[in-house]
This record gives sequence, C-alpha cells and structure tokens, in this order.
Amino acid sequence: MHVGSNRNTDKTVELPSSVLNKHVAMLGATGSGKTVAAKVLIEEATLDGIPSIIVDPQGDLARLAIIGDRAALAENGGDAERSRLWEEKAEVRIWTPTRQKGLPICLDPFSPPTGELDAEALVSSWDLMASGFAVLAGHDVEKKSPGGQIKAFLNELLTESARLGCYPHDFVSLSELVVNPGLMLEEGAEPARIAEIIGGYIKDPVREELARRFNALDSGVNQLLFSLGVPMDIETLLEPAKNGKVPVNIFYLKSLGSEDLRQSFLQELGRRLYDWMLNQSTAEGETKLLFFIDEVSKYLPSDPRQPPAKQIIKLLFEQGRKYGLSCALATQSVANVDYKILGQANTIFIGRFQTKQDRGKIADLLKVGGADLGLVDELPSLEAGEFQIVCPDISKVPIQIKTRWLYTDHGATLGENEVEALTPQSLRDWAKERSVAHSHSANPPAIPLSRKQMSKGMTENETPFESHLMGGLMLLKDPKDPLSVMLGATNLFTALVLLTTTYLLGQSWIDGENLGLLLIFGSLLSLVSCVALVVETLLSDERALVQRIRKRARPIQYLILIWIWILWFGNRAAWFDLSWASILIDIAQTLSTLFVLLEMAHRIRLGNLQLQLDWNPLAMMKEAVHSMKLLLSESEIAVMRATSNQVMQSLQFLTEIVTACLLGLLLFEIGDFTLDSTFSSEIVLRLFSIYALQITAKVYVNFHSK
Ligand SMILES: Nc1ncnc2c1ncn2[C@@H]1O[C@H](COP(=O)(O)OP(=O)(O)O)[C@@H](O)[C@H]1O
Ligand SMILES: [Mg+2]
Repeated sequence: MHVGSNRNTDKTVELPSSVLNKHVAMLGATGSGKTVAAKVLIEEATLDGIPSIIVDPQGDLARLAIIGDRAALAENGGDAERSRLWEEKAEVRIWTPTRQKGLPICLDPFSPPTGELDAEALVSSWDLMASGFAVLAGHDVEKKSPGGQIKAFLNELLTESARLGCYPHDFVSLSELVVNPGLMLEEGAEPARIAEIIGGYIKDPVREELARRFNALDSGVNQLLFSLGVPMDIETLLEPAKNGKVPVNIFYLKSLGSEDLRQSFLQELGRRLYDWMLNQSTAEGETKLLFFIDEVSKYLPSDPRQPPAKQIIKLLFEQGRKYGLSCALATQSVANVDYKILGQANTIFIGRFQTKQDRGKIADLLKVGGADLGLVDELPSLEAGEFQIVCPDISKVPIQIKTRWLYTDHGATLGENEVEALTPQSLRDWAKERSVAHSHSANPPAIPLSRKQMSKGMTENETPFESHLMGGLMLLKDPKDPLSVMLGATNLFTALVLLTTTYLLGQSWIDGENLGLLLIFGSLLSLVSCVALVVETLLSDERALVQRIRKRARPIQYLILIWIWILWFGNRAAWFDLSWASILIDIAQTLSTLFVLLEMAHRIRLGNLQLQLDWNPLAMMKEAVHSMKLLLSESEIAVMRATSNQVMQSLQFLTEIVTACLLGLLLFEIGDFTLDSTFSSEIVLRLFSIYALQITAKVYVNFHSK
C-alpha cells in the first residue's frame, strides 16, 4: 500500500496490506490530516480489492465519491495511472439512513443470528440483539436495573420464541409478545417456562411500559429507520452493484437527526458485522473487509461511560483479526477514547499534537507498547499530513511520513443535496431491488440450546429422576418411563407390606407380646403411606401441589425406609415373628433401598462432575459433600440431575454385573454355591458367556468414550 513518502529522504513509503488486519488508529489534533490519512488507506485497500464500510459522522469522507483534480494531483507528485485505476475499481456508495438523498438503508434489528455458530458465540449474539432492543426502547443496559434486567428478559423471550418458531419480525408483534408472553403457550411452550419469563426478570408495569415503547417505534422517524430502504446486511454491502467493482460503503450519519439514533445505528451495524464475522473462515493475515470510524470519541469513550455501540465495537476490535475484519479509527482526543480499544491497534499514525496534555497521553499509550518515546517531542512541529507511524511489526523506529496526495477530493463536509447529486441512478436502481422484497425466511435463526438441553446428557424429552417412596398410583396411571412405573409399583407394594406387617404385629401384640411401641410406629407409617396414595389420587389434577407435598414429605419417606429395615432386622433377630410375610419384607426392602441408593449414587456422581480432581481423599470428600449440598438446595436446577433413562441404564448394568457374578460363582462352585445337575450348569455356562461379553463391551465403550 502506497501511503506516502518519507519526510527526510523523500523515498516512497509502502506498507504491506497485512497491517490492516491488525487494526489501525489515526491520532492527531484537528486539522492534522487524520481523515486524509484514513482516506489514503481506504483508497489503497480498494486498489487491493478490499471492500470497506465507513462511518462518516461529519460528512467529509463522503467526498470519496468525488474524483480529485487531475492537475493538482500531478502538481503534488501523484501517480495518474493509479488514480485512474481507483476510478475504474471503486464503487462509492453513500448510504443515508431515514433519507432518500443518498441510498436509503434501514436497520433490521429483528434479523436473528444465523449460520453455524459455536455455543458461546451464539449466546453472545443473542445477548447483543436483546441489548440492541433494550437500547432502542431507551434503556441503559449497563445499569442492572431496569436496563440489564430488561435485556435479560428480552433475551429469554426472543430465544424462546425462536425455539418455538413464533419469533417476532416487527415492533408490533414484539410489543404484543412483551405484553403477553403467554401467547407462546399456543405454540407449545411449557407453562413453567412462560411463568419464569414473566415473573423472573421485570415487574409487570415495567413490562407494559416496554411494550408501549416498542409500539411507539412503529411510527415517525423511527419507523423510517426500520423500514426505508435496503435492510442492513453485510453481504449486501459487500456486493458490488456493477460486476468487478470494489464497494466503498459510506454511512452518512448526518442524515440521522439525533445522537441516540446514531448510537443505535452504529450498535446495529456493529452487531451485523459481528454476526457476519463469526461466519467467516479466513486465512491468517487476510483482510476481507475494512471498517473505519472517524471521530470515535463519542462512540467509544473511556470507562465508565458505556454508550450502546461501545461494547460491540470493542468485540470487533478484539476478535476481528481472526476473521479478516480490519478495524480502523481516527480521533483527536486520545484521553477520551477507551484505551483498551486503542491498544488493539497495531499500527498507529501519530500526527500533530500541540498541548502537553495530549502528548502525555500519547506517551502513556506508547509506553504500553514499549515504543521509543523520543517521537513525542517532535509532535508539535508536525505539519498537516505529516505523521509518525508506529508499527512494531514493520519497523523498530517510527516511520517519518508525509501522506500522499489523494486520488479523491478532500475538503468541506458534504451537504445532503451534494450527496444526492453524487448518487447515480444505476446505484439507486440496484438498491431499490434490494429494498422491497426482504423476506425473513431466507436463513433460519441459529438458536442457542435451552438451559434444559445444556444440562449434561439431557435431551428434550427426558425428565429428571427423583425417587418418591410414597404414592405411586399416579405414576402407574400416567407412565412416563419404565423407571417411574417401577417406582410406582414398588411404592404400592411397600404400602401393602406395611399394612400386612402392621396387622401381623397387631396379632402378636394381642397374643401378649410386648410390641406396643413398634406397633404404634408401624400403624402410623402404614396410615401415612395409605393417605399419600389416596391424596395423590384425589389431587391428580394439581401436579404442582403434589410435587410440593412430596418434597415436604421427604423425611417421612426416609422414615418408611428405616422402618422396613427395622422390620427386616427385628424378624431376623427374632424380636417378633412375621412368618410368611418375611419374604415380602425382603422384597420391599430391596426395592425401596434400591431407589434411594440410585438417587444418591447419581447425586454423588453428578456432584463429582463439579470437582476439580484432587487426589487428596479428605479434600475430595469435603468437596463432594459440599457440592451435594449445593445440588440438594438448588434442586430445581436441572443441570445436575440424572435422567431416568440414564438411571434405568445404569440399573440394568448393575443387575447384569450381579447376575454375571452369581453365575460365575455357581459355575466354578465357589463357596457355598453349587450346581447339582449338568443341565443347569450347561445353561449357566452359556448365560455366563453372554453376560460376560455384554459387560466387557460396555465397560470398554464406556472407558473409551471418556
Ligand atoms: N497529505 C496532505 N498533503 C497536504 N495537505 C494535507 C494532507 N493531508 C491533509 N492535508 C491538509 O490538512 C487539512 C485537514 O486534514 P484532515 O484530514 O481533514 O484533518 P483531520 O481529519 O485530522 O481534522 C486538509 O484540508 C488538507 O488541506
Ligand atoms: Mg477529520
């Protein structure tokens, strides 16, 4: 790129176009020649075939549409041949949002992220979109309340509606959805989810006010901003109207009446660039697009100020180089521009700065980069168009440069009527074609996973597994999966066993045995579990209530388990004789204990997921207990729940192992295990080999998938 000549030697200074990729900043006082320097870069990028998007707050960049004076060019040592080449290649298009003077362009804040984005990028894309809407509604999203909460609410509302396929495409339908998120129920939303969206973020009056504001955006100038002209889309901006040309897109911000509108416009442009950029795959160092903003201090001020466009433009500066997006900016007030964004620019053009304060700031900036500070003293003596280029990749010392003469015109800012004259009919026709028929169905929105889907190993239809040791009729009546049927049957069976054993205990008590206390205890528990069965049946329509009762009744459930163990032990130790019922107790004990163990095992296993593996057993145990507590208290967070399918699978696997072990013991007649007939030992051998094969395969697969 031919940017100018060395001030001392008069030799031509060429920069490799790879410097663009690492971002550029033009710094200097008013009149030092920053805008001209930026135009030189834009002209050079265009000659290189790189399209550009330029934010022109003052209207002087729009002069790129005017060819410079030939005689003046020759006088100033300009290359006439390259100037002609620029004329041939460049397609300068001045976009005037809300106005027809140049090419009208409108924002389409409703266009959702599309393409294949990774989970993280997807989440931030939707977040940016929600934040854009919150800003359009006049909220400061940097303030937690209400701006931040409104943003969170909109994020949930929009992603959920996209998931259900009823994503709004205009402010009227967005407004309707904000007033009444319940509309999504008709599309099959879960009532609990809707309740969470309505109640979880903002109060009803705030929500209603938000809806009113969205509705208001559908009228007046606002409406023009969203409806007049070509919908803003980066692909359209990169497409030449005439084949073979290189687009130079200039956003003439003066056509936007208020500062708020300009901020919103820039934010939306940034968001579209971000979404576009994430979908690019770019070779190292390649530049696909040059994005330049003049006079950035209003849009990218230093902290704590956070105007709407700052966050997204910062992301572009931070991540752009990976995707071939080159960012450039110009400012006269270094002190007032976010230093983290400035710090991303690897090539800095430093022009004239007179005040001591300004030079101090430049020194600070250069110190961070470890550059030589000698140049700072020379800054006041620089003329317009003279710069020191600091670019550590290319030169250890600053390059003393005078920027070259422009191929295009430079001077006063352009008025709207001049812009009108500079927009040829051929471009207007091209733009018109792209304005009318903009359909939203072209690309389906890329939707982030719901919280439920994100939780480990869970797919849409699985429900968390939790063992309830009481009730069960409902589980049988409305079977969700084999596991809940098993649990229901176990509970029913246990209730019957409780009744039977209580009856038997009562008999022995009548026969004169001293079992009073045990009998009272047993009767109470049998009563409770029978009541649970009845209540659950009566409340069959009130699921939420049943759930709550179950949660509360948890201690009683454990009492029942303990009671069954007492019965089993008492029977063994011959405190009492339950004769024929003892086999029932064995079964009830096995099954209900199994469910409790399964649930516990899963909590522990899931708790482990959160552990940093630490081979100190004590620390591990402490950590496990801690994360279990965490899980138990935040039980509604589905993330850490095992699903019943998983549980069912591990249960089957466990049974297989026990069976295989038993078969092995029988086969090799270990201990007291014996097989009397050759026929049974044949069957056992065959069964054993099948089980052994299955288990080996599962263990192998499991081991490898980890
Ligand atoms: N390369 C150059 N050669 C000669 N004069 C220049 C050059 N660059 C800029 N100038 C002069 O400086 C003036 C201001 O430049 P400009 O880029 O608009 O300043 P800034 O954007 O820093 O305020 C221009 O109108 C022009 O007369
Ligand atoms: Mg300027």
